[in-house]
Amino acid sequence: MAETFAEGLDLPRPVRIVARRRESEDVFSIVLEPEGPFRYVPGQFNMLALPGVGEVAISIAPAPGDDGTGACGRIQHTIRIVGRVTRALAALPAGAVIGLRGPFGRGWPVAEARGRDLVLVSGGLGLAPLSPVMEYVLARRGDYGRVTLLHGIRRPGELFFRDRIDRWRAAPGTEVLLATDHADAHWQEHVGVVTTLFDVVELDPQRTVAMTCGPEPMMRFTAIHLLHKRGMAPERIFLSEERNMQCGVGRCGHCQIGPRFVCTDGPVFALPELGRYLKVEGF
Ligand SMILES: Cc1cc2nc3c(=O)[nH]c(=O)nc-3n(C[C@H](O)[C@H](O)[C@H](O)COP(=O)(O)OP(=O)(O)OC[C@H]3O[C@@H](n4cnc5c(N)ncnc54)[C@H](O)[C@@H]3O)c2cc1C
Ligand code: FES
Repeated sequence: MAETFAEGLDLPRPVRIVARRRESEDVFSIVLEPEGPFRYVPGQFNMLALPGVGEVAISIAPAPGDDGTGACGRIQHTIRIVGRVTRALAALPAGAVIGLRGPFGRGWPVAEARGRDLVLVSGGLGLAPLSPVMEYVLARRGDYGRVTLLHGIRRPGELFFRDRIDRWRAAPGTEVLLATDHADAHWQEHVGVVTTLFDVVELDPQRTVAMTCGPEPMMRFTAIHLLHKRGMAPERIFLSEERNMQCGVGRCGHCQIGPRFVCTDGPVFALPELGRYLKVEGF
């Protein structure tokens, strides 16, 4: 059977960087303006390509003013500099053109979570893939119950999206709690790993949908707490996984976890799909 190539999924399309911003010492954001409509579900990712350098999977974050779907015509990527491609992307000025494939993967169940309370738990860069959930929900505030975001960082200098966090905090029925592992003299919020914030959070396990993204041990402890201490149903606990990506479309097997591909079956999974691999008791 002949292989079919969908433009934008198999072949990178050119897209211009219209703005860039430094978020912290090693994290920066770029805003892209794709030609024509580009819609995504919160939690999906794109493959960003630099000819002669390489291609990386990066979650889609909302551009300023977006509602978490791409409706504003722009998308954002918030990126940590860790290696060859991310370093090269960081060096590009506004106006540069890069390659984009996507959007890919299964995102957060924002439509299915309508009518429920949400608890979002992020660590470090995990805030980027959860930020479209915040914008999506706040743009449709009446459709959801209470929203609680718990966000953890290792040290205060790593905090990004301060202006967004202030705006989210000001929204009705919305609580944002921050934690740092190591405080400095200016830090006025919680000190401890993000999961210690559960001690001060009230949630109704029958009404709540949980979404978590960050380092795997953090997601594991979050899942264990919600499942075994709060009695939440595992089907309502969702995690976003990261694996080394190559094709992004389920062909190469690089991103496999057990029988599942992170690029097509995920990156967002319900706990029963992953519990065994995360070594959460009960799976
Ligand atoms: C679905 C998905 C969404 C992602 N979203 C984001 C995002 O929003 N922002 C962001 O900054 N990064 C994100 N990443 C991670 C990003 O893809 C990697 O950091 C990137 O591929 C590194 O490429 P590089 O060429 O700069 O580094 P390389 O030179 O390839 O590697 C540098 C170092 O990083 C390690 N590394 C490479 N890829 C990964 C990975 N996927 N996970 C863990 N370690 C890795 C390598 O082992 C090596 O130690 C995401 C990954 C996935 C799979
Ligand atoms: S990245 Fe190739 S199968 Fe997922």
